[in-house]
Amino acid sequence: MTNPDATTDADAPLSAYEKAPTDGSAVDPRCVPQELDGPPPIGDEIVPPDYDEESQENWRFLFQRQMALLQGRAGEAYLEGVSTLGMTPDRLPYLKDLSRNMEEAAGWKIARIPGLLHERDFFGLLNDRVFPSTDYIRRKDELDYTPAPDCFHDMFGHMPMLTEPAFADFYHLFGQSALNAEGVDRQSLERLHWFTVEFGLIQQEEGMRIFGAGILSSKNEVQHALSDKVEKVPFSVERVINQEYEVWDLQPLLFVLDSFEQLENEFGEWARSRGLL
Ligand SMILES: [Fe+2]
Repeated sequence: MTNPDATTDADAPLSAYEKAPTDGSAVDPRCVPQELDGPPPIGDEIVPPDYDEESQENWRFLFQRQMALLQGRAGEAYLEGVSTLGMTPDRLPYLKDLSRNMEEAAGWKIARIPGLLHERDFFGLLNDRVFPSTDYIRRKDELDYTPAPDCFHDMFGHMPMLTEPAFADFYHLFGQSALNAEGVDRQSLERLHWFTVEFGLIQQEEGMRIFGAGILSSKNEVQHALSDKVEKVPFSVERVINQEYEVWDLQPLLFVLDSFEQLENEFGEWARSRGLL
């Protein structure tokens, strides 16, 4: 998982990831953000790992199970992105291959990172149109849920959307803005990230569809997100930045875009109005 949610800003409000889980359990140490100790390898610089058979099996199982659930639920841009990137259940993709395809589609590259990043490093990479990704996959006993970052979330959840040009440009604007944001603007950006990149919905001609990585890579969220149990609210930046959320429960409320151009334009307008761009 790559998220900007943990902050060290003394004057910024506590981020959702820093609040204790509601079931009283401790925060998983793998969810504590780390600082990079040098520039991470990008694109062709990334040496592919030698995946063992269990990793390949876990990828195959997760990919097939999730793709079956995504039929009629995932957005068109996402599904096209999966095929543009050349992701299949057959084998765990290499980051350098995904990076090449992603760069061709919308000008983004991939960096290999060791785990959850400190927000400064995370935003800095987004600002360079580089998406930070892990390249190890969750364990067999975590197939249904893991709070920790892994490449099923990063690759399968996030990367396909970065081939969609307007979404890709929005995410770049997000990275630029985040580097300049302080205090309450940090919290606004955190909420915007959560309700779009991680948990966004979009209205298509044939119905409402999912494009957020947090839903797309989760068995439970994907079955929950479009159900009547979730309140759906038309997207507006003002409404999103005033909406709290919990990271440890199924989401009770989600926002719905009309288009990715709407996201890019309304976000850009807001960020300029706050002096972040
Ligand atoms: Fe994520």
